[in-house]
Amino acid sequence: MPLMIGVPREIFPGEKRVATVPEVVEKLIKLGFTIAVESGAGDPANFSDDTYHAAGAEVIAGAANLWNAADIVFKVRGPSAEEVALMHEGQTLVSFIWPAQNPELIQQLAERKVTVLAIDALPRTLSRAQKMDALTSQAGVAGYRAVIEAANAFGRFFNGQITAAGKVQPAKVFIAGAGVAGLAAIGTAASLGAIVRANDTRAEVADQVVSLGGEFVKVEYEEEGSGGGGYAKVMSEGFQQAQRAMYAKQAKEVDIIITTALIPGRPAPKLITAEMVASMKPGSVIVDMAAEQGGNCELTEPGLAVVKHGVTIVGYTDLVSRLAKQSSTLYSTNLFRLTEELCKTKDGIIDVNMEDDAIRGLTVVKEGNISWPPPAPKLAAAPAAKPAATAMPVAKKAHGHGAPSEPMAGNKLAIMFGVAAALFWFVGANAPEAFLAHFTVFVLACFVGYMVVWNVKPALHTPLMSVTNAISSIIAIGALVQIAPPLTGVVVGRPDDWIRWLAAAGIVLTAINMFGGFAVTQRMLAMFRK
Ligand code: NAI
Repeated sequence: MPLMIGVPREIFPGEKRVATVPEVVEKLIKLGFTIAVESGAGDPANFSDDTYHAAGAEVIAGAANLWNAADIVFKVRGPSAEEVALMHEGQTLVSFIWPAQNPELIQQLAERKVTVLAIDALPRTLSRAQKMDALTSQAGVAGYRAVIEAANAFGRFFNGQITAAGKVQPAKVFIAGAGVAGLAAIGTAASLGAIVRANDTRAEVADQVVSLGGEFVKVEYEEEGSGGGGYAKVMSEGFQQAQRAMYAKQAKEVDIIITTALIPGRPAPKLITAEMVASMKPGSVIVDMAAEQGGNCELTEPGLAVVKHGVTIVGYTDLVSRLAKQSSTLYSTNLFRLTEELCKTKDGIIDVNMEDDAIRGLTVVKEGNISWPPPAPKLAAAPAAKPAATAMPVAKKAHGHGAPSEPMAGNKLAIMFGVAAALFWFVGANAPEAFLAHFTVFVLACFVGYMVVWNVKPALHTPLMSVTNAISSIIAIGALVQIAPPLTGVVVGRPDDWIRWLAAAGIVLTAINMFGGFAVTQRMLAMFRK
């Protein structure tokens, strides 16, 4: 019996997004599900009941009826107490939850004996999870909208112009924090023609800033800013002082500042002081995207746009809802991709497979049992920080409590090498000579392949895959050999004609693979280059 996915209307004040759009309803139906949408759910994002109906969804009036009918509920904001009360045993909820900040909500949901997938808890550094990464899709929309809000409040063009009426200088934009939202803001501001500068505590984002058309402004202080998993950490007092000096200089020079700096589980770092605001040119604009987490600017008023010292400070906390149609479409596509992972059989039944890293990460309650926090992810975007020398003795001590010790790991390796050597000796002594030549090449190829893949940073695995894909087009040589005319000339109708036609098709297909693979690799590597 296929399950029903229900999409209620969002009730959080000011929330205009909807968890599923009509275009995605059709795709979910193809996966075998039936879809129900609460009447009016899509109205704030300009998706009418009629469009949902036309896409094949049932439109149900009233939240209680919708929650009652649905086996799986797709939402944007975490459920309110009233919504939790509407849930029934065995139901599955997919939504933003923020489990670390909402332990009581998790407890209440567990008591309802439901399964809860927190889309914000997805392990983002898994390459496979990117298509489901709603934090990224929504942050991208927010970054874009922040620039539009800045342009709206700013009294000048972004691009430089030479007109009959005089020369216009391009606007200078400074972006504090170059995570997903910051990078989207850099790209948008640069495409409008502004001069864009950006800073982040994580030095590894410098290349990304440049590839999007910005200039990375460094803090003159040596300190590693990565806190693991691609996120930032709280910096030392010395760094913060040097950073403040640099930000104060930028504040005097630029027209627009967009701040996006966040540290998970912490209040937003205060980067723009009241003095810096006062030092900006009159008519300048600050958009503080961290307003909801306390703001990066001392003078931000969350939810409002205020003018202080002649500078407009925009502290809107609903930037994504201000582009509700776009953000809803991206969010519902993220949920569709997740549903594909949950329903590989395409029969309208889901399997919350806790062996799958991505699914395990976002499952915060499974059939009434709290399963958050998950075990640490196996892959990180940035290489993990090397443990400090002082931490070593403590770490070694911990081995005494059941964890495998270093000599044990060494022994295991020696045994493995011993077994492999014995195996090679056996093959070498008994296998025919012709086989040995191929076998040697095979073993060397395995070794080279291992060294190439394992010595490449996880972040570069996608370009590595596309380049190996392109290299695999070496099979074109086989086709070229086949297409060469036979010495006796071509005789139409003979079987080798067929071989040559097939070889020609093979050459065309491998050429697409070869040139496409290299072109894709080139584009991806450009993201990492200065
Ligand atoms: P976020 O919203 O938590 O933080 C925004 C930015 O503020 C971060 O780049 C952070 O380094 C920066 N920041 C924090 N404190 C700062 C300070 N005092 N001064 C200046 N900048 C400061 O981060 P977001 O945008 O959610 O993602 C951060 C990173 O996560 C990404 O850049 C990426 O490396 C990683 N990520 C990886 C993915 C993948 O591998 N598939 C997918 C999504 C994110």
